[in-house]
Amino acid sequence: MAVQINPSILSADFARLADEAKAVEGADWLHVDVMDNHFVPNLTLGVPVVESLARATRTPLDCHLMIEDPDRWAPQYVEAGAGSVTFHAEAAHAPVRLAREIRAKGARASMALKPGSPIEPYEDLLPELDMVLIMTVEPGFGGQSFLDIMLPKIRRTRELIAKHDLDLWLQVDGGVSAATIERCAEAGADVFVAGSAVYGASDPSEAVRALRDEAAT
Ligand code: DX5
Ligand code: ZN
Repeated sequence: MAVQINPSILSADFARLADEAKAVEGADWLHVDVMDNHFVPNLTLGVPVVESLARATRTPLDCHLMIEDPDRWAPQYVEAGAGSVTFHAEAAHAPVRLAREIRAKGARASMALKPGSPIEPYEDLLPELDMVLIMTVEPGFGGQSFLDIMLPKIRRTRELIAKHDLDLWLQVDGGVSAATIERCAEAGADVFVAGSAVYGASDPSEAVRALRDEAAT
């Protein structure tokens, strides 16, 4: 299982996004948190910023949509240049149709679960997806503490992926740091989002390397 590290620009300086994206060019993906102030109590950025970012960096964009009605909006993020689009299971009206549309437009389709949402009801949907995102904090803000009680859900999701013999990535997001990444990897995660642990470091690209080493051990 190859380890991937996706820095979250939520913890970057929004007035210098192009430079902040370039500061982590050794990363696998750039994680872009889209929040609409309805699905979560915070507001960040939308399609025009994703379009500009896609032009500003060679790192592919991993857009995490924390928004209502992703069925309506997600395809626009693919058109804006995202290589992966994650919608929340709690917000999607027709997740299978949405995942198919994201894939048909040429991006990887991914579904996220908030801490209170179990994976089991979505077992049959897994073949439609390229990635599952298990939130390890309540979505909305960077810099929160990692929720250890999510580890069994990560493990369970990895078991379901193996049971169905799927080539699915398993992403974790929230409170991932040098102190917690090993636990996530051990539970079966292979894609790691890190906001404050990367952009809070004096050398963000070194922080990416350090996280990659920690996860691989
Ligand atoms: C939170 C976002 C995360 C956030 C993670 O709702 O989805 O991507 O940026 O930040 P850290 O790594 O600081 O917890
Ligand atoms: Zn995120």
